[in-house]
Amino acid sequence: MSDFTSGFWPWYVAGISIVSILACAWLLWVAGKAVVKTVPGAVSDNTTGHVWDEDLRELNNPLPRWWMWLFIITVVVSLAYLVVYPGLGSFKGLMNWSTEGEHRGDVAQLSADVAPLYAAFSKLPVDVLAKDARAVSVGERVFMNNCAQCHGSDARGSKSYPNLTGPNVAWLGHRNAEHIVDTVTNGRTGVMPAMAVAVGGEAELSELANYVLSLSGSPHNQIKAFTGKSRFAACAACHGVDGKGNKALGAPNLTDDYWLHGWGEAAVISIIKSGKINVMPAQSAILTPDQIRVVSAYVYSLSGSNAVAPVAAAANVAPAGALTVSASSADTSQPAAPAAAARRAVVTPAAAPKTR
Ligand code: HEC
Ligand code: HEC
Repeated sequence: MSDFTSGFWPWYVAGISIVSILACAWLLWVAGKAVVKTVPGAVSDNTTGHVWDEDLRELNNPLPRWWMWLFIITVVVSLAYLVVYPGLGSFKGLMNWSTEGEHRGDVAQLSADVAPLYAAFSKLPVDVLAKDARAVSVGERVFMNNCAQCHGSDARGSKSYPNLTGPNVAWLGHRNAEHIVDTVTNGRTGVMPAMAVAVGGEAELSELANYVLSLSGSPHNQIKAFTGKSRFAACAACHGVDGKGNKALGAPNLTDDYWLHGWGEAAVISIIKSGKINVMPAQSAILTPDQIRVVSAYVYSLSGSNAVAPVAAAANVAPAGALTVSASSADTSQPAAPAAAARRAVVTPAAAPKTR
């Protein structure tokens, strides 16, 4: 109650509080004595003369004493409360209590409680923590509270939100502890500029999109892909001449079978036309460095040796022949997750749903 901007309001609020309590006390005093005035000439049987439901009558007595005392106690307690706790304008109360102070105390207590737990983790590198079952389970809880709303509770992401369980080839950056910690601490912004002007009209866009699809062996129109190839020069600066991407720029590999922003000709044309600015917010203001290391260890553990179980759902399995995850270009330091398992969770309406 110390944030009033003018000296008038604290007194105004305090005045209303005191006057209301005194008015309640006065009302009690009056009501404790008063009886209802009966109609002159009515039978004097000590009832109010009101009749409900044919024969229900009301005795004409003042409020019962015990009941009145309860109210008097309430009035006394509320006055005592205003002396002890903040409530009277800007008066802080004798105990100097505040919600903010209580919250700060709770946070300090909680931090002190978990400090020994994190202390055991703070000396170990993130990739070692990723093999520590306890660190991983603490990290999983941090993930559920802070990351699952975007990356999904299974960390498999959805359209435009990266799947964090895939092998290195499916990642925008290098799937290593450093990249994960850096992304969580500082966030990241993926920028794919709108490129339609550099490409041409609808026909040219369709040809280029078919060429892009051909890179991953996805179903495509071969003639269009052939004519579209030369237009890929505009994309090579970021995605590489061979379309294998550039992790330093965050430009995805277009030759694999992972699609962050949707699969198919329409999705590719759409991103060429509109571009994409994809933001992962920095978490450094929300999480402590120890929490960041532990959640990073959890993420890192997801596609390590204990990789995600293969997903049997038919919607996640691409047709034979179109399954061309390039294990060769994957980071061999980590075993690649089974191709079908690492497929993105988004299901495109096309007959062959292939998603990141
Ligand atoms: C508001 C949504 C949001 C939240 C919350 C969020 N992320 Fe992200 N995250 C994203 C987006 C979007 C990207 C992709 C950014 C890009 O395109 O460059 C991303 C990228 C990443 C990457 C890099 C993936 C790659 O392929 O290189 C990692 C790792 C990551 N997030 C981990 C986390 C963790 C751990 C948390 C929780 C502490 C978290 N994220 C919370 C939206 C979010
Ligand atoms: C300035 C660098 C840059 C250029 C030039 C560029 N891209 Fe991209 N592109 C990116 C980045 C970065 C992303 C990832 C955006 C994100 O983080 O979500 C991306 C994403 C994509 C995707 C989505 C991939 C997926 O997994 O869903 C496609 C398709 C794509 N680009 C095609 C193209 C084509 C075709 C061209 C040429 C017309 C092109 N890009 C030119 C940087 C670039």
